[in-house]
Amino acid sequence: MPEPEELLELDEIGSDPGTPIDRNLALELVRVTEGAAMSAARYMGRDDKIAADRAAVESMRRSLSHVDMAGVVKIGEGEKDKAPMLYIGEQIGNGNPPLVDVAVDPIDGTRLVARGLPGGIATVALSGRDTLLQTHCAYMEKLVVGPRARGVIDLRVSHTENLHRIAEAEQRPVHDLTVVVLDRPRHEDLLREIRATGARVKLITDGDVAAGIMAALPERTGLDVLMGIGGATEAVLTACAVRSIQGDMQCRLWPRDDDERKLIEREGFSETQIFRAEDLCAGDNIFFAATGITDGEMLGGVRFAGETVETHSVVLRSYTGTVRWIDAFHNLPKLRQRNEMSPLSDD
Ligand code: FBP
Repeated sequence: MPEPEELLELDEIGSDPGTPIDRNLALELVRVTEGAAMSAARYMGRDDKIAADRAAVESMRRSLSHVDMAGVVKIGEGEKDKAPMLYIGEQIGNGNPPLVDVAVDPIDGTRLVARGLPGGIATVALSGRDTLLQTHCAYMEKLVVGPRARGVIDLRVSHTENLHRIAEAEQRPVHDLTVVVLDRPRHEDLLREIRATGARVKLITDGDVAAGIMAALPERTGLDVLMGIGGATEAVLTACAVRSIQGDMQCRLWPRDDDERKLIEREGFSETQIFRAEDLCAGDNIFFAATGITDGEMLGGVRFAGETVETHSVVLRSYTGTVRWIDAFHNLPKLRQRNEMSPLSDD
């Protein structure tokens, strides 16, 4: 057993790539995503995206502030002048080592939650300090696969070529692959090309973080590939998960106009640059947690049953590669007593 002083040292250098953070912070993170999911779930189907988001953000901020870490929000709710909480640059955690970057998406799929549709999740990731990519470009083109197709994907070749390479790596015909794509007009050409290969397509209305994780964990959901353009912040969160489970991912910035083109130039990036999962999240000690808000293919949603609330989460840690599926039954009166539930979630 290491002496307590040694443990502290390990913690302190935990942001150093290759050095394990000696405790599984993801197990602390799952309490954060469970709380956010329970708070947001009260707003399911109420057609109020803002209220659902506010409930998740408030809960997440409160519980993150108790996590034993010196965190800085790198992927958050926006700039400080626009977001009062979990804004980019906000320091979070109790200030003790390790030093970490924090990526939050209190709800990925706000519209799904507001409309009571499947697939809304609450998610958080941590990685060593200064390891998460930051850009103000809103969108990225993404390609995500599981561990078997690791190393064969390349965004510089055609979608068709990528699907053939993935099928070969998976030792299956292309028409056995299922590709998940956000249902957006911008994907018309992409969908035509995928369909021409014979691959199956699953369209989703929102929530490409969960879709990316599902593609990287094909055994769980039968989805093999995520393709298409989605949020850049969601890409960083997805990369944290993909790296934790040894999947593979490539991205490319997708500026919508000349202003965004200039913006990415000022940031030192280019439109043709390929970002690997390691470029989006460069840490070697990555922790990721997600909890279902509405029922989804990967995670069940929050169920309220009187004094008990049921949640379903996934917890990932890159250092060990462990994937944990956690079903929890929360005792509402006790949580209220300990002030661990948002007042918003009690109504
Ligand atoms: P929000 O929950 O922040 O609304 O994001 C949902 C989402 O579907 C993401 O999963 C995805 O990356 C992004 O929106 C796609 O953006 P858009 O809806 O503008 O195409």
